[in-house]
Amino acid sequence: MKVLILGGTTEATALARRLAGNPRIAATVSLAGRTANPVLPPLPTRIGGFGGVDGLAAWLAEQGVAAVVDATHPFAARISANAVAACGRLGVPLLVLGRAPWTAQPGDRWIAVPDMAAAAAALRGLGERVFLTVGRQELAPFAAVPEKHYLIRTVDPPDPMPALPRFTLLLDRGPFAPDAELALLEEHRIDAVVSKNSGGTATRAKLDAARRRGIPVVMVDRPPPGPAPVVHDPAAAAAWLERREAAPGGGAGGHAHPPVP
Ligand SMILES: NC(=O)c1ccc[n+]([C@@H]2O[C@H](COP(=O)([O-])OP(=O)(O)OC[C@H]3O[C@@H](n4cnc5c(N)ncnc54)[C@H](OP(=O)(O)O)[C@@H]3O)[C@@H](O)[C@H]2O)c1
Repeated sequence: MKVLILGGTTEATALARRLAGNPRIAATVSLAGRTANPVLPPLPTRIGGFGGVDGLAAWLAEQGVAAVVDATHPFAARISANAVAACGRLGVPLLVLGRAPWTAQPGDRWIAVPDMAAAAAALRGLGERVFLTVGRQELAPFAAVPEKHYLIRTVDPPDPMPALPRFTLLLDRGPFAPDAELALLEEHRIDAVVSKNSGGTATRAKLDAARRRGIPVVMVDRPPPGPAPVVHDPAAAAAWLERREAAPGGGAGGHAHPPVP
């Protein structure tokens, strides 16, 4: 059975590891091509956009894809919406392999905001030194609050560089360890952290470090979920694919889809 995994996350790579060598499931992983040196999964990989809903639907039809797993980041809303539309158009089953959102623990000082512009606005009442861990594509709204000093951590350099008068750029890729995160907050005398509510383990240590230091975290809520069923575990996604493959017509690579739960 031909499968497309929309990737770019540790969960997608974990699912790819589970499926590598599986003779019944021929999966291809798709990456957007945003990072210069991506961690490549152990499966055939294609890189770059499809060209919107039409391009994705055409690719799925050409390849005879019988199931799609959307394992993209919870904030990658456009590709997820495209997957819903393209799969809906073709009748291809779609599963979301997502991460449970982080929830505040006792002692956390979280300020929940709906988007990045609201995150920037929330900083006005907070201290001067801000740790920005929101990725390199969403820095522009912070130009509205130029009086802060920003410590910006990204995997690849922002392009263009943010229009901020005072910032320090730190290039690094998770997973990050709790003690190292605490040391980073102390070294840079951070007063507040800004984070997306990405979930997962690779980048949550900054939240534990903020709690230990007693500083606030401006937490950007996720975009609303789509209609597809969601699992939080690569093993559950692999099992869903195995059930599809075992169902009558499932391995044929066509678009006949009996109702498999
Ligand atoms: N947003 C984040 O915070 C974040 C964090 C970590 C990793 N990532 C990963 O980085 C990638 C890009 O994220 P984004 O927020 O820029 O996405 P996005 O805004 O949802 O997508 C923008 C466009 O990029 C292309 N695209 C995105 N993911 C793709 C994939 N896996 N394969 C092929 N094309 C893809 C699609 O282009 P076409 O319309 O031309 O098909 C899509 O319309 C995703 O794969 C995501 O898993 C994102």
